[in-house]
Amino acid sequence: MPLFPDSFIQELTERTDLVELVSGYVPLTLKSGSYWGCCPFHSEKTASFHVLPDRQIYHCFGCKKGGGAINFIMEIENLGFQDAVRFLAQRAGLTVPETGDATMQQSRQRLLELNRDAARFFHETLRAPEGAAGAEYFRRRGLTAATIRHFGLGVAPDAWDSLLKAMTAKGYTKQELLDAGLAVRSKNGGLYDRFRNRVIFPIIDLRGGVIAFGGRVLDSSLPKYINTPDTLLFNKKRNLFALNFARKSKQGRLILTEGYMDTVSLHQAGFDCAVAMLGTGCTEYHAQLMARYTKEVVISGDTDGPGLAAVQRAIGVLEKTGLSVRVLRLPEGKDPDEFIRSNGPAAFQRLLDRAENHIEYRLLQIRGRHDLTLDEDRVAFLQEAAELIASLPSPVEREIYSARAAEAASVSPAAVENEVARTRKRMAKAEQQRRQRRDLNPASVLQPKDRSLRYDNLRSARAEEGVLRLLAMDPHLLEEAAGLRGDQFSSPLLGRIYERMAADIRAGRPFLPDLLAEELSSEEMDHLTTLLQQPEQPENRSQALEDCIEIITTEACKRAAPEDPDLLLRMQQRYREKKSYGGERK
Ligand code: UTP
Ligand code: MN
Repeated sequence: MPLFPDSFIQELTERTDLVELVSGYVPLTLKSGSYWGCCPFHSEKTASFHVLPDRQIYHCFGCKKGGGAINFIMEIENLGFQDAVRFLAQRAGLTVPETGDATMQQSRQRLLELNRDAARFFHETLRAPEGAAGAEYFRRRGLTAATIRHFGLGVAPDAWDSLLKAMTAKGYTKQELLDAGLAVRSKNGGLYDRFRNRVIFPIIDLRGGVIAFGGRVLDSSLPKYINTPDTLLFNKKRNLFALNFARKSKQGRLILTEGYMDTVSLHQAGFDCAVAMLGTGCTEYHAQLMARYTKEVVISGDTDGPGLAAVQRAIGVLEKTGLSVRVLRLPEGKDPDEFIRSNGPAAFQRLLDRAENHIEYRLLQIRGRHDLTLDEDRVAFLQEAAELIASLPSPVEREIYSARAAEAASVSPAAVENEVARTRKRMAKAEQQRRQRRDLNPASVLQPKDRSLRYDNLRSARAEEGVLRLLAMDPHLLEEAAGLRGDQFSSPLLGRIYERMAADIRAGRPFLPDLLAEELSSEEMDHLTTLLQQPEQPENRSQALEDCIEIITTEACKRAAPEDPDLLLRMQQRYREKKSYGGERK
């Protein structure tokens, strides 16, 4: 059952001007019927993103993202379907109807209240005798009372059910405690507290709700940290610790750390732009989330051992989102918390100012792999450096880093620049070859970008796309497709969309991708808009539709009965009859 009535989604999208909505995020200019701008979902310098006002969709030729107003808000504000709808409703001055999700909404609300009460419990316990060890622990780690209050830090007593007791006394059920991830079920069926004898770091979302907790042991036992598991409110891949504070920072960047303590220490030392990942690597969601608040991320993670690989992965993920990335390198074996405690904030600020951008950082890494006193290694270093430098789009940057590399290997800058130019030529040629190969093999161009959506029958799928495109442009054509059914489509996704489209048209609604925003995945929506925004010949649409249907039904018959050519004929006959019946009705 859909969360909101279609009529509401329809009204919402009608009241939302997609061009105006998108313009709030990306400057757009009108060019031959659609509005063009630089894509907000990937980094680019020339506009390949456009909004088609007539179809109320946006689409990027570069990264292939696309959808309607709801999808746009889901992607750019990093919201789920429901929150995106609420966001747009508020903007349009519409009241969101109470719907089937009311119970879901209520349980979320309830879990938020439970978490808030739990946070209060943990925080207050710091002042109670059973929290003395926790309070002492924070003191030993140099946290001030103000910091503890600011972050709402707390402690879970050394007992199996202190929180359980306190929360059930407040009227929360055992099920709610389980749902919040605060309680765990034991083998014999009883419940016990997840967080015991640990100091507690509440994780707060951007609306100020307590959505999860992290807990650290007071000694050196293992595991050192545990987090709330994924719940209705929390997913560690989508949340960052302290972003609720850091997003208000005036420091113009975010510092991305690996740990709670690093982030808390940084805030205490005045770096209020620090955030922490929650025991995962940096995800695309993290990157998008940060990109909403800043253009620059300074990664301050381990730069030795496995930490190094994590930093490199994070650089890749962040850059893909268009963030500029620098890497702050601490002396071997130190984390930001330890560094600040022994060297002070001013020393950290100096490291921050010197933090290398990712190119310098990568150059240093390449350099680290070679012994530049050996001629052989210098050649290898220069070749690798040239590869890196050649990939930079800006000529100025290429010149600067060529000079750096030249200096490191004590050769002339011109020598490096030559090498870079040669590499660029080679890369351009390879790219051209790739493009030619692709053009000679149209199947790969026509396939959906997302692998999981690959078509089994390309001929049929092209025709199916054609049907959808034609119907989106001219709903009246549905009458001419009377005999066609979604289950005849070779692509289940396109078949589903067709059924939905047909139902909308019959119900007298215009077809809006937004009506599908709830049920389609973001990849499916991207694909739908990719195919919808393609041009369709304006003349003789009826004929075009008929040709498409012919292909679809023929291919469907082949699938159903590959050995029976008669059946094929019979089916085609039947389809023609139905069609002429449909024609008569009109
Ligand atoms: P670290 O082990 O580097 O801890 O874990 P830390 O941040 O320096 O913490 P202190 O200074 O010892 O208190 C970094 C982060 O990895 C996650 C936590 O989010 C932690 O902050 N982690 C670590 C876990 O989730 N589980 C663990 O067992 C350890
Ligand atoms: Mn630490």
